[in-house]
Amino acid sequence: MGASKYILYGPFEQLVTMQGLPMKGAISDEELPCLRAGGVLVKDGRIHSVGEFSALKASNKAQDTEYCTIPEGSVALPGFIDAHTHICFAGSRARDYAARNAGKSYLEIAQAGGGIWDTVQKTRAASKEELVQNTISRAKAHLITGTTTLEVKSGYGLKPEEEIKMLEAIAAANAQTHTDLIPTCLAAHTLPKDREIKEEEYLREILTKLLPVVKEKQLAKRVDIFVEDGAFSETMALEFLQEAMQLGFKATVHADQFTTGGSRVAVEAGALSADHLEVSGDSEIQLLANSEVMAIALPGASLGLGCGFTPARKLLDAGAGLAIASDHNPGSAPMGQLVTQAAILGTFEKLTQAEVFAGITYRAAHALDLKDRGVLAPGMLADLCVYEVSDICEILYHQGNLKPSFVIKKGEIVYDQSKGIS
Ligand code: NIG
Ligand code: FE
Repeated sequence: MGASKYILYGPFEQLVTMQGLPMKGAISDEELPCLRAGGVLVKDGRIHSVGEFSALKASNKAQDTEYCTIPEGSVALPGFIDAHTHICFAGSRARDYAARNAGKSYLEIAQAGGGIWDTVQKTRAASKEELVQNTISRAKAHLITGTTTLEVKSGYGLKPEEEIKMLEAIAAANAQTHTDLIPTCLAAHTLPKDREIKEEEYLREILTKLLPVVKEKQLAKRVDIFVEDGAFSETMALEFLQEAMQLGFKATVHADQFTTGGSRVAVEAGALSADHLEVSGDSEIQLLANSEVMAIALPGASLGLGCGFTPARKLLDAGAGLAIASDHNPGSAPMGQLVTQAAILGTFEKLTQAEVFAGITYRAAHALDLKDRGVLAPGMLADLCVYEVSDICEILYHQGNLKPSFVIKKGEIVYDQSKGIS
């Protein structure tokens, strides 16, 4: 590959780099690093330097630098990172949503054969190509709202070959989208209802028949498990995660969504993150705060199910790290609008702008074990999201209704509001 040129983006009225902020605990808005008249110099898809636009322009002597002037009065920040989604699926669960609003609970619907199992049947019936196209179109909808990295889980296959089909569909979609899709194997989502199989036996099957293939085919580096009544028990989940980690996988947990227990499993296993946490109480909060596990709030699931939000304020005040993700899935979180959800969580939980943006940038990157993104700093991927407003506060104020004017992925403008996705 020939040497690529430099691209200088800017000047930005405010360049919010997210540099130097803590991985855990509360953050005040005064700490938000905000460069006035800033610029970002890019080379080979990565950030070469960040600084005052005119200084970068004066110091960069490369002949072939491309100057990419941004409309006056724009704010830029790192491309958003959504650390928890289930966007690879077929079918709709609109009827579950209606039934829930008419009084049935998520678990009752699941026990009656709806819920996750309904999506499993539709996803199994879909071709791999259909799943690829569904995933691409959902990833595009996320891209135009500023999300440049999306975690995507399997978990609607629930048997080795169907889980592989999903993970291969995610890999194929990743090759055809600007957004980086980070796959996670969630075969331990729930027990398959079409087989008389016990929890222990099913988890053993995943460990012996599925994960070795996932590893060999390099389809995912992460495993997830739903710890819940009606899904998997704490004891089994911990053993499962420990064995999966011995195989070389990193762990994450669907934890404390309806009943507590999952957060302890995440901490004891040394998972990257514990996600959901809607019912976490003081002891779970303390446990998480004393660990290196990132707490991930999923406000889209609270909005989809009509239940309380993750105690984000308490988690931060106790000293925990907090990321915010959309949980985009056909059941509990069909909306899939990360910025809207993060802004709403912020209003209910009284989160600073800095805490909300940290949750969808560098803290989310940390939860995915990605060290090359989430802050605008030299060497990092040049993933940026640009809004045509002159004050960063405008973004969350509009609760997702203000869309980015540009999204830059690996140094290229991949979305321009006036032209669409390139
Ligand atoms: O994160 N809680 C379990 N899993 C998903 C829901 C998946 C579904 O309902 O299809 C969640 O909420
Ligand atoms: Fe989920």
